[in-house]
Amino acid sequence: MDPIKHPDTVRHSVVDFRQMSVFVRDPLIFDHAEGVHIWDVDGKHYLDGLSGVFVAALGHRYPRIIAAIHEQLEKLTFAAPLHGTNRPAVAFCEYLASLTPGDLNTVKLASSGSEATETAMKVARQFWKQSGHPTKFKVISRYYGYHGATLGGMAASGTPKRRVPFEPLPAGFVHIPTCHCYRCPYQKSYPECGVFCAEYLRQVIALEGPETVSAVIVEPIGNTGGILVPPPEYLPKLRQICDEFNVLLIFDEMITGMGRTGQLFGAQTFGVIPDIMCLGKGISSGYAPLAATVWNERVAQAFWGPEEANLEFGHGHTFAGNPLSAAVGMAVTHEIVEQELPARARELGAYLEARLRAFGEQCGIFGEVRGKGLLWGIELVRDGVTREAFPESTAIGVRIGKRALERGLITRYDPQWIAFAPPLVTTKTELDEMLAIFESSVSDVLAEI
Ligand SMILES: Cc1ncc(COP(=O)(O)O)c(C=O)c1O
Repeated sequence: MDPIKHPDTVRHSVVDFRQMSVFVRDPLIFDHAEGVHIWDVDGKHYLDGLSGVFVAALGHRYPRIIAAIHEQLEKLTFAAPLHGTNRPAVAFCEYLASLTPGDLNTVKLASSGSEATETAMKVARQFWKQSGHPTKFKVISRYYGYHGATLGGMAASGTPKRRVPFEPLPAGFVHIPTCHCYRCPYQKSYPECGVFCAEYLRQVIALEGPETVSAVIVEPIGNTGGILVPPPEYLPKLRQICDEFNVLLIFDEMITGMGRTGQLFGAQTFGVIPDIMCLGKGISSGYAPLAATVWNERVAQAFWGPEEANLEFGHGHTFAGNPLSAAVGMAVTHEIVEQELPARARELGAYLEARLRAFGEQCGIFGEVRGKGLLWGIELVRDGVTREAFPESTAIGVRIGKRALERGLITRYDPQWIAFAPPLVTTKTELDEMLAIFESSVSDVLAEI
């Protein structure tokens, strides 16, 4: 055993969302990687079926990104953020603004997704204060949503397991049920429902008082709950309702952005342009901590004015706009665009979808296979007709996910669902290898229960 794995060594670390007393017994410690392959410190090989956690769009050790990092390392790695910015940050913001749809043209860089969503909610509040509606402060988000680990991001998030230990959370956040057609929170059926879950937003804004609501924040495709893809009318309806009530629409595109859903941004996949867009994860492909919040001209205008008016955005982080991270963002985004990886995600995603559906027919426990591009979720059920779930105690998804991990495949797993999001550069052969491990893991677990 590699000495780094000794419990007395590992016990000084805190791994995300892990009970450390269990983790230290057999810690998974990664060591090196290449493309979609990753090895732990014992030399065990894994295929990265989740891009780390929806991050490594380009896979690992991508030569052009490594070259861009080396080049920037030799020039500048940090520059006084209270005094100015730096060449890679300015160039990257301009490039990103040229790619984001509509007039989303103003970019604030950050180091994590949570910072980017906090930035979005803060910019929304300050915008209204500076544009004649100072009482608009509430943020409406959805149950099942996840918008970050910081207190503001948590307050907007909607899963009790993540929220409750830290309550009371900041005030001014209102939740509505999410859009989940397979398990509709209103027990309606699409399309007869008329997309009631979107219409419900109208009631909530009216009841909260439109003059108190600053923004609605949603992930175009929800991750928690098992890759919840809304029907085509859902996001356009949210856009329409926000416009009716003069409320800003924020898309948290941490997962759906940067080519993952088959277009560069989820906004384009669904044909809806938000007022503010949050990006992270794939934006650096994991080569540096990086995220971004992008807002439109209307929002931007409220922050321009004479110096004595104090209209500037009162917000910053030490590492926001870090030159090394910005250089990485530029190189990664360039590569995603130049190599036409969104189109590749569509193409390979269609193959992945077909394979998952075919295996679902065979194994009989895939209640719903849903996704876009290279972002797919599988809801696991005991009975495909009645949609009866497996009992919580079976933890079917966890068992399958853990078995896959033992066999060398990384997925996202939950008691009732599994998600796949391999790097956008995955080859068909590599995807076949991933699917072979996944399918045999499902078969193994089914034989046991
Ligand atoms: C949709 C979404 N928003 C925000 C975040 C928070 O990002 P980070 O973990 O980089 O702070 C995540 C992270 O998983 C996410 O999936």
